[in-house]
Amino acid sequence: MSSSAILLSPDAVAQQAKKLAQAPLTEVLRWAFETFGSGAAIGTSFQGAGLVMIHHAVTAGLALPVFTLDTGLLFEESVQLKARLEVFFGIPLESVHPEISLEQQAAEFGPELWTKRPDTCCQLRKVEPLKERLKTLSVWITGVRQEQSSTRSGAGILERYLFDPLLEQYILKLNPMTAWGRDAVWEYIHKHGIPYNPLNDRGYRSIGCQPCTRPAGEDGSERAGRWTGFDKTECGIHTFLNAAK
Ligand code: ADX
Repeated sequence: MSSSAILLSPDAVAQQAKKLAQAPLTEVLRWAFETFGSGAAIGTSFQGAGLVMIHHAVTAGLALPVFTLDTGLLFEESVQLKARLEVFFGIPLESVHPEISLEQQAAEFGPELWTKRPDTCCQLRKVEPLKERLKTLSVWITGVRQEQSSTRSGAGILERYLFDPLLEQYILKLNPMTAWGRDAVWEYIHKHGIPYNPLNDRGYRSIGCQPCTRPAGEDGSERAGRWTGFDKTECGIHTFLNAAK
């Protein structure tokens, strides 16, 4: 991890957050790129917010790396979308894979772990691979929006977290889309003809892994259809850092 994030004190982060909250999206991304270079990266599952951020970055010539966590359980539509987006944006989109294959997971934990212990499955297939990628970064750029759920309503535009308590390493989480509403995101996508997941037109609101995502219809909350039947609303990638804050 670069030392840049470590040098930003909590006060400096709070001041910078105030400035960024007033800035247009392109300027927020420009600050990240000019300050941290490829030590800042966009993490996305190619849903609305991620597409808007990539489009702004590419249009402004900001070569921010883009990565996606590929659990090996994604919808075929999501896998194909990534290939379409590489052509559309003309940049490589990095897939981050879990260390443990689906076969190893089945052998160790039993078949279809997601039906029995979805938290463990998310931990192995999303959270752990994300942590590995974050080790190489100073700034993790996400598409979290406050409107998405009650657990996200308090998300700030720039947050500082203790990433590794043992090594005393910090990481910045940049959430440039916090204030964007769902309608604004989709208006932007349609206006610019950005390819999007066809499942969005088939009643899916929030798209994660195939076995744990259901269509939700227009009336559900933004994240309706995820982990139906379980008392679970987050996969853990947006909560594990809170523990070490
Ligand atoms: S999720 O983690 O609970 O599935 P959601 O789908 O609402 O989250 O997306 C919120 C943000 O989390 C995205 O904008 C993106 O920054 C990050 N994110 C979610 N899924 C992935 C993924 N598969 N790869 C990389 N980042 C992701």
